[in-house]
Amino acid sequence: MMKEGQPNAIFLKDYEVPPFLVDTTELRVEIGDGETRVTSVLKVRRNPEAKADGELTLDGGPGLATESVLVDGVELQSNEYRIADDELTVFDVPEAFTLTTTVRIEPEKNTALEGLYKSGGMYCTQCEAEGFRNITWFPDRPDVMSTYRTTVVAAKDACPVLLSNGNLVDSGEAGDGRHFATWHDPFPKPSYLFALVAGELEHIEDSFTTMSGREVKLQIFTEAHNIDKVDFAMASLKNSMAWDERAYGREYDLDIFMVVAVESFNMGAMENKGLNIFNTSCVLARPDTTTDAGYQRVEAVVGHEYFHNWSGNRVTCRDWFQLSLKEGFTVLRDQQFSAEMGSPTVCRIADVEVLRRLQFPEDASPMAHSIRPDSYIEINNFYTATVYEKGAEVVRMIRTLLGPEGFRKGTDLYFDRHDGQAVTTEDFVTSMEDATGADLGQFRNWYRQAGTPVLTVTDSYDEETGDYTLTLSQHCPPTPGQESKDPYHMPVAIGLVAADGKDLVPDVTGMDVAHVHNDDAGCTVVLNLREATQTFVFKGLPEAPVPSLLRGFSAPVRLRYDYSRDALMFLMSHDSDGFNRWEAGQQLAVAILEEMVGQQQSGQEMALDGRLVRAIEKNLNDALTAPDSVDGAMIAQTLTLPAASYLIDLADEADVDAIVTAREFACQEIGKALKGLLLTVYKQNQETGDFSATQDAVAKRALKNQALGYLVWSGDEAMLSLAQAQYDSANCMTDTSRAIQALMGSSAESARSLAAKDLVTFYNRWADEALVIDHWFAIQSMCDLPGALSRVESLMAHEAFTLTNPNRMRSVVMAFTENLRHFHAVDGSGYDFLADRVIELNGINPQMAARVLRPLTRWRKFGGERRERMRSALERILEVNDLSPDVFEIASKSVAD
Ligand code: TRP
Ligand code: ZN
Repeated sequence: MMKEGQPNAIFLKDYEVPPFLVDTTELRVEIGDGETRVTSVLKVRRNPEAKADGELTLDGGPGLATESVLVDGVELQSNEYRIADDELTVFDVPEAFTLTTTVRIEPEKNTALEGLYKSGGMYCTQCEAEGFRNITWFPDRPDVMSTYRTTVVAAKDACPVLLSNGNLVDSGEAGDGRHFATWHDPFPKPSYLFALVAGELEHIEDSFTTMSGREVKLQIFTEAHNIDKVDFAMASLKNSMAWDERAYGREYDLDIFMVVAVESFNMGAMENKGLNIFNTSCVLARPDTTTDAGYQRVEAVVGHEYFHNWSGNRVTCRDWFQLSLKEGFTVLRDQQFSAEMGSPTVCRIADVEVLRRLQFPEDASPMAHSIRPDSYIEINNFYTATVYEKGAEVVRMIRTLLGPEGFRKGTDLYFDRHDGQAVTTEDFVTSMEDATGADLGQFRNWYRQAGTPVLTVTDSYDEETGDYTLTLSQHCPPTPGQESKDPYHMPVAIGLVAADGKDLVPDVTGMDVAHVHNDDAGCTVVLNLREATQTFVFKGLPEAPVPSLLRGFSAPVRLRYDYSRDALMFLMSHDSDGFNRWEAGQQLAVAILEEMVGQQQSGQEMALDGRLVRAIEKNLNDALTAPDSVDGAMIAQTLTLPAASYLIDLADEADVDAIVTAREFACQEIGKALKGLLLTVYKQNQETGDFSATQDAVAKRALKNQALGYLVWSGDEAMLSLAQAQYDSANCMTDTSRAIQALMGSSAESARSLAAKDLVTFYNRWADEALVIDHWFAIQSMCDLPGALSRVESLMAHEAFTLTNPNRMRSVVMAFTENLRHFHAVDGSGYDFLADRVIELNGINPQMAARVLRPLTRWRKFGGERRERMRSALERILEVNDLSPDVFEIASKSVAD
């Protein structure tokens, strides 16, 4: 907490190597009820690369009650060291010595969930980014790497299972009903990768044989009532291990890999060496409790954390400005993994949707920052969509520029060269260059500059010569601290589609082209855009093509090209690039929805362009004839209209009510116009028999439920019974949840009473399944019917609600911020509600408080009273005493702008 004055910013330009190194770390953690004692024995030596006169300072949180400090076994007197401002300074130390400290901490009172804390009945740790300092005194920075030997002592009955990183090397009795376990991790690691777990846990076990023939024991631990929900995570783990060997040549290194599921966790999961700790929401899965989307998330997060073993752990970050080094790269790796386990196009669409929903708005807000920020006040605030998702896009662009083989050479060199080191994004890019001879000089602007570039494209065709000219211009809007930007080097993947729907194969000799992919499916040219404005002339084309631009979303930009609606309909049907077929449909829908927003604003009646109905009709007809599951899943995505939040992001000044109303109206019209076809699709994709989790079954459920949504929107009472029947007979959470949500989304009186009844049976059936109850809270918090805020307030008063569990908090508070019409109520009631929660959470869990605050930082997208009310909610937060640095940083940067 801030005591006085304002917390200081830390700057990348001030980086200095650590004055002292810690070769080995020995910990003894004695867990007692209400008090834990931590003794740490560090082998410290002066860093030969540092200035010779630096003092020894160690980091420690305010919760450390220090009992003793010893140098080489001799206890220091109070004038030989100083504890102030969360630092322990030891005066006059030798070149090399043993530092022993003993502290007491109180994990039971740790509601911030950083350091050692208690989740339900179990003790667990979260040390990234700077949580280790809440456990013991330590140079808590990622460039200090040490081997750890950890002894955990606890009561046998309360904590029969004692875990830490690495291999179990000793265990036994510790007297007074206690026992101990000693773990040793031979790989030097930064303190943020330390982990410890103690509690009453069950586990499942399996094994994996690595490519060099070593057998690795795999264990997943949970509390007893969840042990029936970890088989899918185990299967995902084995797939991840095999995939990383295949795709990147990376083998697992310890003899054991453990995963622990905990209920109270700030984020998704954590890649601690050999002992990953997961939010239950990212590891548990069972058909009756978990939706298909939930399954995909488990697979992706299990992969993500496992892949960190190389991209993050074996090669780690020098400082926290380099966070995207591990996160951007690892997100790309998990995206590639999911794409290979499922459908590449469907996954790519999902990735881009996340980027547009979360990262684009961030880049357009006062919190905009580059993927390698220049400064921060609280590093926890930089675990952002920019560092993660845009970071992944940047690494993906390197891959596009170098090609898959070049990229693999680059990653091989990076892992070999930097194994065991703490490095920078610059080291990563240099490895890519050294392995391939490529010049990524200008490309580095992606690491330095914030903001989403706008790529504007114009074209012309010369009938006489057949020359087709594409002019590409890039412009990146200003962001805080960066008024003007240099042009980026971006790969722009394009196709030139002829009237027959086939790609033309242009002659690109003499053009600045990174690659040409030409096969039976089509022809894609990857242009190197480097200038602010650059012209590409394709000579002698037989006809004027329709350009298919930015195939596969080859760069994270906003594309502007003046497509006619008919051209978009054409690309939707014919583009050889699956992503762009979907994108053409989205662009068509955006144009039509924006037109309807305009109609409302000028007091006209809304009229839906029939082309949107025809586009959906075409997709539904495709669904009826879809040859396989991949097409089915892809078609389900084409049936979804762009999210209201995306339309908000696209607008200069968003009219929330008009946007939500236009989208709703379009859904109703589609439902009415295509009822017969929708019903056929609904029925044809009904599963018979037992639940199945195959890709084919998932695709069918997606299609069926998409159709159900439109059918209920149509307002036809008979369709309500269809949804109710699905709710009554569902054999999986996907069908249960979509049925109840369809009913909740309808404004029909009879739908409301059905939904109300179903919500009761739902709660009673699932009261013991925390994640299902989170879902129950969330669907109610997002319900758009009038009176939303007072419903949310009564949810907060529900006996099962608590602010201290992040999943439960998110299910009501964060979910409400997605209930756009009500969160953005013009009277500011939604903003006030959120500000009150931020203030409450500030004293409980600052990391969560700062996340809850995020939607308010987007005030710039809204006009008039909304803008003023969002800003005054921020100002009210800033007046609170004892504001955490987390909340202070976001609120102050947001109003300063
Ligand atoms: N390194 C984790 C991941 O991306 C992120 C993480 C987990 C985290 N828990 C955290 C970051 C707590 C900050 C604070 O896989
Ligand atoms: Zn990560």
